[in-house]
Amino acid sequence: MEFPANLDAFPAGFLFGTATAAYQIEGGVAEGGRGPSIWDTFSHTPGRIHRGDTGDIACDHYHRWEDDLGLMADLGYPAYRLSLSWARLQPSGTGGLNPDGVAFYRRVLEGCHRRGITPLVTLYHWDLPQPLQDAGGWPERATAERFGEYGGRVIEALGDLTTYWITINEPWCVSFLSHARGVQAPGFTDDRLAIRAAHHTLVAHGLALGEFRSRLPAAQVGITNILGAVNPASDAPADVEAARVLDIRMNRVFLEPCYLGEYSDDVTEVFGRDGLNAGETQGALVQPGDLELIAAPTDFVGVNHYTNMIATADPTARRGVQIRHVEPTPSTFGWSDTPDALHGILVRVDREFSQLPVFVTENGISLNDYVDPDGRVNDVERIDYYRGYIEAVGKAISDGVDVRGYMAWSFLDNFEWAEGYDKRFGLVYVDYPTQRRIPKASARWYAEMIARFRSRA
Ligand code: FCB
Repeated sequence: MEFPANLDAFPAGFLFGTATAAYQIEGGVAEGGRGPSIWDTFSHTPGRIHRGDTGDIACDHYHRWEDDLGLMADLGYPAYRLSLSWARLQPSGTGGLNPDGVAFYRRVLEGCHRRGITPLVTLYHWDLPQPLQDAGGWPERATAERFGEYGGRVIEALGDLTTYWITINEPWCVSFLSHARGVQAPGFTDDRLAIRAAHHTLVAHGLALGEFRSRLPAAQVGITNILGAVNPASDAPADVEAARVLDIRMNRVFLEPCYLGEYSDDVTEVFGRDGLNAGETQGALVQPGDLELIAAPTDFVGVNHYTNMIATADPTARRGVQIRHVEPTPSTFGWSDTPDALHGILVRVDREFSQLPVFVTENGISLNDYVDPDGRVNDVERIDYYRGYIEAVGKAISDGVDVRGYMAWSFLDNFEWAEGYDKRFGLVYVDYPTQRRIPKASARWYAEMIARFRSRA
C-alpha cells in the first residue's frame, strides 16, 4: 500500500492520532452516577435514530477503555482526541462534579500517559445534561454560562492531565443541525432557535476559554468547527450566489466571530431575519462584549472536515439552496472523497481567518465494512482516502500553513448519531454483538505510516 508521498513535509513532533466522542463509544449510561443527556432522550425517542439504535452500550468503552487504549498503544498511534461527557461529570449541569465521573476520566487520561499517548480533550461533544435542556438548552444564554462554570470545574479536576483542550465540537451541528434541521438532539426545526444556539455555543467557548486563561495558563486551547468546501454548480449568478450563502451558513457564521471578532454584514444579512441582532436593545442576541469574548485569542484552530459540496440555486429547496456532494465517492454517507478540498480549507483558514497553528481534529470516511471469510476487514478505500487527505495536509504545510496534528475519525466504529450503528468510520471494526475489536487494514496501514514518519529522523 502506498503512503502519502510527502511525509517529509510534516514537522517532527506532528501529532498523528485518532478521535472519538463520549456518547458514541462509552455506553455505561446509567453507571458511575451519570445522568441523562439530550442524546439519551433523543435516541430513545421513536423515529429519531436509524433502526432505533441508542448509545446505551455503544462500544462499551466505559468498561473496555483499558483494552482499547492497549490496542491504540499496540498500533503505535501517538495522539488521541476524546471527549468528556458533561452528563457523566456534572449530571445536573450545575454545581460540583460527580466524583465517579472524574475518577473515570482520570483513569483514562492517566492510561493514555502511561502508554505514551498524548490526549487532546474535548469539553463538549454534544451530550448536554438533560436538566439544562429542560431549562431551555443552547437557545438560552444561561446554558453558555453553565458551560463556563463546568469548564472551570473540569480544569480544577483534570487540568493536570492534558495540555490540549477543545472547548466545543462543531457549533454548526450543535445549532443548525440540531435546532433547524432537527436531525440531531434536541431535534428542533426552528431557525430562530438555531441562530440563538449558534451564538450561545460561541459565548460558551469564550467563557470556558477565560477559565483556562485564569486557571491553567499553560493549556493549549481551541474550538473545533466543521468546515465544508463549497462550490457553485455553474457560473450562473444564481448558483454563485447560492454557494456564497451556503458558505456563510456553514463556515463564515462561525469563523468570522471566532477569528475576526465580527458578524459581517453578509452574515447578518443571512441570519438577521432569524434574530441575529446586536446591540444595546433589550434581549439582543449579541450582547455588548460578546464578540470580544468569542474572539479572545486561542492557541490553535480546530478543523473537522468531511465533505465537498456543490450548491445549486433552487427556490424549492431549503433556504433556496440545493446541496449535492462531489461524486463519485465510496462513502456510505455519500460524502465526497476529494482531498484537495481539505487542502483548500486549511489554506483558506490561514489566509482569511487566522494564522494560528491548526489541528485537523477529525477527518474520515464511512464505508460498508465487513469481516471477510478470513476474519479480515479489507477497507482499501479507507486507506486510499487517508493517503489522499494526509497528503493534502502535507501540501498545506508546504504552502505555509502551520498544521500541528491530524486525528483520523475514528479509532473505533461507533454510534453515528442519527445513523446509529449503520455508518462505520473506524480504523478498528467493532463487532457489536460480541464487542470484539478487529483492526481493519486501514488501522495497520495508519500504524505503518506513523512508524515510518517517526523513524524518519
Ligand atoms: C462529525 C462529528 C463526529 C462524527 C463525524 C462523522 O460531525 O463530530 O462525532 O459523528 O461527524
